[in-house]
Amino acid sequence: MKLTLYILPMGFSGPVWFLILAIAYPGTVQGKVVDNFQPCQQFFKDGIAPQGFENEENKDSMVKICQMYKNAYHFATLYRTDLRIPVYSAYSYTNSNPKPKTCRPLKWFIEPQIENCTYDQNMQIIKLDTSDKQALDSDYERSGYQRGHLYPFSFNHQESATASCTLTNAVPEKQRANVKWYHYTEKVVKGLTQTCHNTGRRMYLVTGSDDYNHGNIKNRVKIPGLIWTAACCTVPRNQNDRFLAEEVEATRNPQTTNGDFSIAFMGTLFPDLNIVNVSVSTLQSRLNASIFNECKEATREIYEEVQRLLSE
Ligand SMILES: *[C@@H]1O[C@H](CO)[C@@H](O)[C@H](O)[C@H]1NC(C)=O
Ligand SMILES: *[C@@H]1O[C@H](CO)[C@@H](O)[C@H](O)[C@H]1NC(C)=O
Ligand SMILES: *[C@@H]1O[C@H](CO)[C@@H](O)[C@H](O)[C@H]1NC(C)=O
Repeated sequence: MKLTLYILPMGFSGPVWFLILAIAYPGTVQGKVVDNFQPCQQFFKDGIAPQGFENEENKDSMVKICQMYKNAYHFATLYRTDLRIPVYSAYSYTNSNPKPKTCRPLKWFIEPQIENCTYDQNMQIIKLDTSDKQALDSDYERSGYQRGHLYPFSFNHQESATASCTLTNAVPEKQRANVKWYHYTEKVVKGLTQTCHNTGRRMYLVTGSDDYNHGNIKNRVKIPGLIWTAACCTVPRNQNDRFLAEEVEATRNPQTTNGDFSIAFMGTLFPDLNIVNVSVSTLQSRLNASIFNECKEATREIYEEVQRLLSE
């Protein structure tokens, strides 16, 4: 062990050089605009994206992004280029106890392919003077609003946490609301994910915005009046309703296969953040959209178990 340490300076010159390059050119972060979410369907329950958010009126300004960082997909986003904010980000957790150790970057990433589909698929930190189709850091500067994450920063592995800091994953939120929302999300999602993984299943989540009647910042970036999260705990299946091979073991337990459960909560942002627990079907009616094709509402026992985990 000691010996290895002594030869580190030489052996590491390559990686160190690479690190310096990566800091100078943080272009290794990737994002990819796609026609459909198929390349990153692993973030959607049963590989199926939410339905009903696109309609005749807004469909030309909807962009689907498979959010990639260091050659791995981390989450998926439906983005509105006319409002310059995301409608939702979809993600899933395979580990209920990640240890994030990443600093929040000062500058956030943008999605070059929103500008022009021939551009590099790498999501990057580049300074654009302006953009018709996406928000920039300059929009948020001295606006009184923070870049509020949909796919959360906390409760993520290192690279995934960094990848969450992309402007296509952000909506304007006042600081107090932003902090309150992410503390709540972190707490509840952590408890639920633990309950879910205890029985060999996987958590699928979608966090989104709604209610676009509260003005905008710099006359460009829409301020939402509502943020929401829906979560479904289930055995992973693909679009053909086949259990994913790696998880087949979990399906042998009948309690596991029969026990999908879902919860949702939403926060109205005006006059001040107010969070309420709702069922996914209530949330879906409110949004006039379908988030999960099917996922049973959580029982009182599940809520109690989550409560117990949270108070530990
Ligand atoms: C709800 O969605 C359906 C189908 O997507 C649409 O036909 C209907 O007009 C929507 N209703 C409202 C109140 O927006
Ligand atoms: C996108 O970029 C290509 C290559 O630089 C260019 O030829 C094309 O005109 C651009 N398209 C738009 C819509 O700007
Ligand atoms: C919502 O449910 C969770 C889990 O049971 C609980 O911890 C939380 O306090 C509830 N929040 C509200 C606003 O009722």
